[in-house]
Amino acid sequence: MADMKTIETLDAAGKSVIVRVDFNAPVQEGMVTDDTRIRAALPTIRHLVDAGAKVILMSHRGRPAGTGFEEELSLAPVARRLGELIDAPVVLAADITGEDARGRAAALGEGEVLVLENLRFDAREKKNDAAFAAELASLADAYVNDAFGTAHRAHASTAGIAALLPSYAGYLMENEVTTLTGMLESPKRPFVAILGGSKVSDKIKVIDALLDKVDTLIIGGGMCFTFLLAQGYEVGSSLKEEDWVERARAMMDKASSLGVELLLPVDVVVADAFSADANTEVVPVDAMPETMMGLDIGPQTARIYADAIAEAASVFWNGPMGVFEMKPFEAGTRAVAEAVAANDAADTIIGGGDSVAAVNQFDLADRMTFISTGGGASMELVQGEKLPGVEALR
Ligand code: 3PG
Repeated sequence: MADMKTIETLDAAGKSVIVRVDFNAPVQEGMVTDDTRIRAALPTIRHLVDAGAKVILMSHRGRPAGTGFEEELSLAPVARRLGELIDAPVVLAADITGEDARGRAAALGEGEVLVLENLRFDAREKKNDAAFAAELASLADAYVNDAFGTAHRAHASTAGIAALLPSYAGYLMENEVTTLTGMLESPKRPFVAILGGSKVSDKIKVIDALLDKVDTLIIGGGMCFTFLLAQGYEVGSSLKEEDWVERARAMMDKASSLGVELLLPVDVVVADAFSADANTEVVPVDAMPETMMGLDIGPQTARIYADAIAEAASVFWNGPMGVFEMKPFEAGTRAVAEAVAANDAADTIIGGGDSVAAVNQFDLADRMTFISTGGGASMELVQGEKLPGVEALR
């Protein structure tokens, strides 16, 4: 990572090192239900512990009001899970930069780990407030950012603080940026991107940017219906964005002028309700009943998509093909996940968010080359946008 100092160059022994991690993990009844993001930060945490640093971890979780402590968004479950994973005591401060945090940070021994409370309990975090960044910086001698998942946010803990302390990229940050940038700059070809998710409006910039890079672009998920409208089909009561039909058509034109193969569904699974016990039917895209909604790609489409994926030398996937959380509408996403997993020879990169949940649901995570921990962050990077958390380290 040219022009970004990495953690390898930090002489951490005996130093207090404050590390921004992304521990924005799902919690139910006080237990972390998916610890992927915590595990992803372990190489950096272990490295610092082994080097004899006094390790101060900071993260947000969820979107609190910013008016102080909220029990249900505390980092307590995360700190507990981290303690289990590193098999060492992890202390949680009762506040962020208050008396408790300052006292505990000052008392930390070499190789010990302290977690500050949820950064967003203080409204100054999201405002990238200079005084808050200074309070955080005052706890440590050096700063490491390992929170790739939050790198698209210019907050006090991701941006402001980097100007105040010697700053380094952690292993996860380095790995994410290097992998995603490498894929975009010099992909093995053919390069196939698969995009799903509900809205064209959310993905238009990614579609636009990927068309300049890929050989084949596969579209599924709710957003395919806006493309089907652009192709002149009726889509019944499916999710659609009428205002985006023109943009969808422009993307189709762009694909054909660049010689990029754009794959859209030829059949879909329709249902009479958005429900796991709805009545369903597989129909070709030119025969969607007026009163039914499309909730998955159909089996013929899944075969065409799987064939294209089998030919790929690199694959980037973001967004499910259908409502995979409901059994009757999971087949399309499953078929794509299996096709990506089966292509052992290709570099296969899963770009965060729901596609990661899908890959986990189908138990295929360990068959992918790389799974990004950043949903929004990886999308912004693919769109060619600069990530404030990364720029601050340069
Ligand atoms: C994420 O889950 O995408 C990151 O943790 C960022 O969270 P945010 O969208 O609330 O800023």
